[in-house]
Amino acid sequence: MAFMKNYLFLILGIFLAYYFYSDNEEFRPGMLKGKKVIVTGASKGIGKEMAYHLAKMGAHVMVTARSEEALRKIVSDCLEYGAASAHYIAGTMENMTFAEQFVAKAEKIMGGIDMLILNHIISTPMQPFAGDIHFVRKSMEINYISYVVLSTAALPMLKQSNGSIVVVSSMAGKMASPLIASYSASKFALDGFFSSIRKEYLVAKVNVSITLCILGLINTDSAMKASSGVFNAEAAPKEDCALEIIKGGALRREEVYYSKLAWSSLLLRNPGRTILEYLSLRYYNKDKFINN
Ligand SMILES: NC(=O)c1ccc[n+]([C@@H]2O[C@H](COP(=O)([O-])OP(=O)(O)OC[C@H]3O[C@@H](n4cnc5c(N)ncnc54)[C@H](OP(=O)(O)O)[C@@H]3O)[C@@H](O)[C@H]2O)c1
Ligand SMILES: *[C@@H]1O[C@H](CO)[C@@H](O)[C@H](O)[C@H]1NC(C)=O
Ligand SMILES: *[C@@H]1O[C@H](CO)[C@@H](O)[C@H](O)[C@H]1NC(C)=O
Ligand SMILES: *[C@@H]1O[C@H](CO)[C@@H](O)[C@H](O)[C@H]1NC(C)=O
Repeated sequence: MAFMKNYLFLILGIFLAYYFYSDNEEFRPGMLKGKKVIVTGASKGIGKEMAYHLAKMGAHVMVTARSEEALRKIVSDCLEYGAASAHYIAGTMENMTFAEQFVAKAEKIMGGIDMLILNHIISTPMQPFAGDIHFVRKSMEINYISYVVLSTAALPMLKQSNGSIVVVSSMAGKMASPLIASYSASKFALDGFFSSIRKEYLVAKVNVSITLCILGLINTDSAMKASSGVFNAEAAPKEDCALEIIKGGALRREEVYYSKLAWSSLLLRNPGRTILEYLSLRYYNKDKFINN
């Protein structure tokens, strides 16, 4: 506690300085040129828009989702928009073997991976939790476990390329969100897991950035349909949202906040948590952060 009292202001100052300073680096679309990027859940919505932005920036694009028809069209659009290359592999992220093999195939096709954008989710209605344990488990598997499987499979390649993992989450992964309890839990899980391994990477000097994206309501067809008549907030445009996610990943930011809701970014960023995380690192034996 004494440590906390003596240094709290200093640390708060450093935190604020870092917070303002770290927003200064400029994004250039050229940053993605020739980069090998995977986008999951790319058959529609924000994922599809990310694939299109990446194509226009001249990246190598690898997309996945279940709908083969949609993916085929997106790949041909991407080539037209100027992608260095564009491919798809269709399959379901319920199947962890598929998830693992997808990354291996993507690496083979593109010759490496620079950025892994994890974006897919199980389609989720807005309704009170009524005991559907099966859906809780499915949400965990698709929205969370498959993200761990995909990033684990990609890590060796990402280490080689000093690459980036971009995790698309939600305000529901940072705050209580009624009518979507299963979804919210899976998004909180992403924060717990990926924020923890970000600390491990920091200490173990693994130069793979992890960007957690905290999105408010976005005007994708799925979200508009699910929220219609239930949740009446203003939705932000999916095209701009997709661009902000890519920017945050390219700039190796820890978190990206994107929402129409006033003050949400400021209110959800948690300086208390950041300070405590920073302070508690000193209690660890850092030798134990290295595998094997
Ligand atoms: N839109 C919002 O308001 C909002 C708000 C906060 C956060 N977010 C986050 O943003 C991300 C994208 O949201 P979105 O609105 O763009 O979603 P979306 O339009 O519904 O797209 C979801 C994508 O996931 C794929 N998918 C669904 N089930 C799958 C499965 N079993 N295996 C593999 N892929 C599967 C879908 O393709 P197939 O059906 O072809 O498989 C689709 O490409 C999500 O992580 C979401 O949580 C969105
Ligand atoms: C899971 O995916 C693997 C690899 O794509 C495939 O061989 C296997 O048949 C799939 N399993 C199921 C149950 O669909
Ligand atoms: C990764 O970063 C290290 C340290 O900055 C650098 O020496 C190395 O060349 C980089 N590798 C790639 C592939 O960019
Ligand atoms: C990590 O990788 C990035 C991107 O290649 C590079 O700019 C940075 O210098 C690297 N940092 C360290 C500490 O190696």
